[in-house]
Amino acid sequence: MRIRPMRADDVAAAERITARAFALPTPSASGSSGAPNSSPAGRAPLARERWMDRLRHMLAVDPAGCWVAADDDGVFGVAAALRRDLLWVLSTYAVDPDRQREGAGTALLEAAIDYGHGCLRGMLCALPNPAALRRYRGAGFSLYPAFKLVGTVDHHVIPEIDGVRAATDRDLDLVDSVDRQVRGATHRPDHAFMTRYGQLLVCDLFTGSGYAYLDGSAIALLAATNRSIAQRLLWAALAQTPPGEEVTVRYLTSDQEWALDVGLAAGLRVEMDGCLALRHMRPPVPYVPSVPFG
Ligand SMILES: CC(C)(COP(=O)(O)OP(=O)(O)OC[C@H]1O[C@@H](n2cnc3c(N)ncnc32)[C@H](O)[C@@H]1OP(=O)(O)O)[C@@H](O)C(=O)NCCC(=O)NCCS
Repeated sequence: MRIRPMRADDVAAAERITARAFALPTPSASGSSGAPNSSPAGRAPLARERWMDRLRHMLAVDPAGCWVAADDDGVFGVAAALRRDLLWVLSTYAVDPDRQREGAGTALLEAAIDYGHGCLRGMLCALPNPAALRRYRGAGFSLYPAFKLVGTVDHHVIPEIDGVRAATDRDLDLVDSVDRQVRGATHRPDHAFMTRYGQLLVCDLFTGSGYAYLDGSAIALLAATNRSIAQRLLWAALAQTPPGEEVTVRYLTSDQEWALDVGLAAGLRVEMDGCLALRHMRPPVPYVPSVPFG
């Protein structure tokens, strides 16, 4: 087994490995889903393309953070990390189920963490996977259990919200300022990718500022300089979700009660999620992390 830098021609294998390792159900022709880990497991075609697009984005911006485990039979493990200012984020991490418990995961995580050398702080959104949590805790991460908001929004209860508008490129400096204040690092290189798939909303008032990404029916990232602006943004984003569609807001630690309160008032339910894993930092507040970008 060797751990080597990821190449562009590894992206398709990385996608297959993560689909199997995350035990995604098999999409069948009829649209019904198969059993976890059934063969061939996989993402739906659009989700697969998008996943690969994201890994290509990471390879372009953070080539030294992207690693694979390989042998003569090909690639069987993957880790992709990014560095934004002095924040290190683990974006993807998986070993093919047939090759787990051989040490590849440990070696991949070491390579990805090395990329963060000099970064003070680390962040990742962890699945509730015992082997992964063991690795993260072993690497010094604190594990913060997280909730998610799930369900269909009751559009009748959404209050009138003003002060929130669609962002333009001219708002990115504002977004950077909010990010620096809330989590100490921007998402600057990732906005081009995120706006390809989602809508960026901003709020800039005398009382505070913030932004939110609405990605289909997910609130994919949100940060604000205070809770009241964060709630305003969350209501505005929920108001724009397609009626009747299942909405998700993920990786909310107990620090994000401002979000739980809005979600519950909007008719969503609270369920357990994975863990927000952090190193040398407390959970940013008010904040909804991006699963791939921290
Ligand atoms: C997390 C993952 C990448 C680890 O890969 P791996 O190649 O199996 O890792 P290693 O063999 O180096 O180490 C696995 C460790 O987990 C432990 N482990 C494995 N299964 C376990 C389980 N069910 N419960 C507790 N510990 C477990 C092993 O004993 C080993 O620990 P040790 O080295 O201290 O003895 C792999 O399990 C995986 O792909 N999981 C599914 C995808 C996932 O959850 N990824 C993380 C997303 S946030």
